[in-house]
Amino acid sequence: MGQGALLTCDFLVGLIRCCNDFGFVPHPARFPKSLPSFFINFLTDPGDTALDIFAGSNTTGEAAEELDRRWIGVESNRDYAIASAFRFMADWPAKRIQNFVDKARRGDNELRIGAPEKVLF
Ligand SMILES: C[S@@+](CC[C@H](N)C(=O)[O-])C[C@H]1O[C@@H](n2cnc3c(N)ncnc32)[C@H](O)[C@@H]1O
Repeated sequence: MGQGALLTCDFLVGLIRCCNDFGFVPHPARFPKSLPSFFINFLTDPGDTALDIFAGSNTTGEAAEELDRRWIGVESNRDYAIASAFRFMADWPAKRIQNFVDKARRGDNELRIGAPEKVLF
């Protein structure tokens, strides 16, 4: 998977704030959450898994999480993938987020990101 990332598992305010605070450019083409939410509701049941192979800022993952679905996102741009995790860190202290960013930026292996209680590296 090279420099890409596999995302396994949110808040827009947290996402933008964290991008600004931790030196990431917010994804330039974020979808409105209503779009993936509509299709997830239409096509899946709670407990199902939603797959987004062009995850970007992982709007799909956030929508899926809110609708009690599991999710998998694939994103080729490592910085977008790292920044997408900020969606799930709105209540994290800055030091914990900085530790995550440092570790994620250092790593050259597959990056796995989940909701706070499921974060794997
Ligand atoms: C339009 S954006 C998706 C935006 C996303 N729906 C959101 O709300 O943030 C498309 C994404 O696909 C990624 N991408 C392009 N080619 C890819 C590939 N071959 N594998 C994985 N991701 C890819 C780009 O880096 C970009 O972030």
